[in-house]
Amino acid sequence: MTKKNKIDLDVFLIPKSGIDKTIKAFQSEMGKGLKGKDSSLKMIPTYVSRPTGNEKGDFIALDLGGTNFRILQLELKGQGRIGASKIMKFALKKKHITGSADVFFGFIADCVKSFLKENRTGSNRRTALGFTFSFPVKQKSVSSGSLVCWTKGFKVRGVIGNDVVELLRHALLKKGVTNVDVSALANDTVGTLVARSYSDRNCDIGVIIGTGTNACYPECIKNIVKLPGHAKGSGEMIINIEWGNFNKLGLTSYDIALDKASDNPGKQILEKMVSGMYLGRLAGLVLKERLKIKGEFKSEYMSVIEGDNTKNLARTEAILKKTGMTSPGMDDKKFTKNVCRIVSRRAARLSAACIAAIIKKMDLDLSRKHTVAIDGSVYEKHRTFKVDIIACLKDAFGRKSSRIKIVLAKDGSGKGAAIIAAVAAG
Ligand code: GLC
Repeated sequence: MTKKNKIDLDVFLIPKSGIDKTIKAFQSEMGKGLKGKDSSLKMIPTYVSRPTGNEKGDFIALDLGGTNFRILQLELKGQGRIGASKIMKFALKKKHITGSADVFFGFIADCVKSFLKENRTGSNRRTALGFTFSFPVKQKSVSSGSLVCWTKGFKVRGVIGNDVVELLRHALLKKGVTNVDVSALANDTVGTLVARSYSDRNCDIGVIIGTGTNACYPECIKNIVKLPGHAKGSGEMIINIEWGNFNKLGLTSYDIALDKASDNPGKQILEKMVSGMYLGRLAGLVLKERLKIKGEFKSEYMSVIEGDNTKNLARTEAILKKTGMTSPGMDDKKFTKNVCRIVSRRAARLSAACIAAIIKKMDLDLSRKHTVAIDGSVYEKHRTFKVDIIACLKDAFGRKSSRIKIVLAKDGSGKGAAIIAAVAAG
């Protein structure tokens, strides 16, 4: 029998002291970001507040943040009610996400055109369109903003530094689409928060844990020190934290190796420890130290393996075989399950620590109820994620943590963009 490498998986554990440290570091970065000081958290003002729930009308939303994107048409009925919606999904190919801005926005405009043709025959009415664009965008108003950098493997040329709403408007006109007004620009976290708060007044955090990860929350305008004078006032403004770039974290040798091999080393450190684009890669790096697996270990394998309760870990075995192992033994399968569990548990606990930091910033003593709206494939598919987040919030807040409600806000990002378009329309 070959001797297997002994691997210390404890490096992935985060004790309560580590969670407390993360909360403090996150809050300190939030404070710096709001002041416009150097910080790993961009804390982007979005020029939008939460809706009243009374917004009404017909809107279109374009929800773009990964290789699949969606176009929706929906009716806001007021009183927190959303009517029947039409939806079409499209897929971006490699040539779209690594080519020029013309090719990228031209394809999106083509898709909007086919959506309108299919769903709005005979209607010449102008409709407001909310554009969810889930990348770090420096907003100048609710309907304009320039891309700071690409994340999640996108590399379209000619977009960084440019106004993405202008690029979309231009592409739509070029394709002869003249009956939509791009009237709002939103991050997916903002869409998620806004969609849930349309019917839930306690909702004050929107989180995405999918291909990428990020969160937003409403901040008192007086605390957003870096806001230009004209935008100052009373009330609240939602801040897109861009938490994926948080970097005050203890890294294992696996995190360091993953970051080094990535196409954006030194950036999006939290994202590389939490999101679907990287979790599988990370687990794969640990597994490869002991098992003879080849090729890619996909994030989606992890939830299947973690949930494998078959007697012989048959599902785990099937996956290991897919990755090139000929006859994995019971030890190998148990080890694999353990690695997946430990890597995803750390991801959930880190997300929870950041959520706790945001809640403490808004409500130090946890004197109110808070709803945290979460969307994203990783959160949705990993049944353990929610349990781990709740357990970690309990560690941080004790019994008061029952005031925090975590909800899955499915497809919130698109709906939210339509609601923001309604808010912007006034
Ligand atoms: C990446 C993007 C961010 C987005 C998140 C989730 O982190 O930079 O804007 O919200 O992915 O899609």
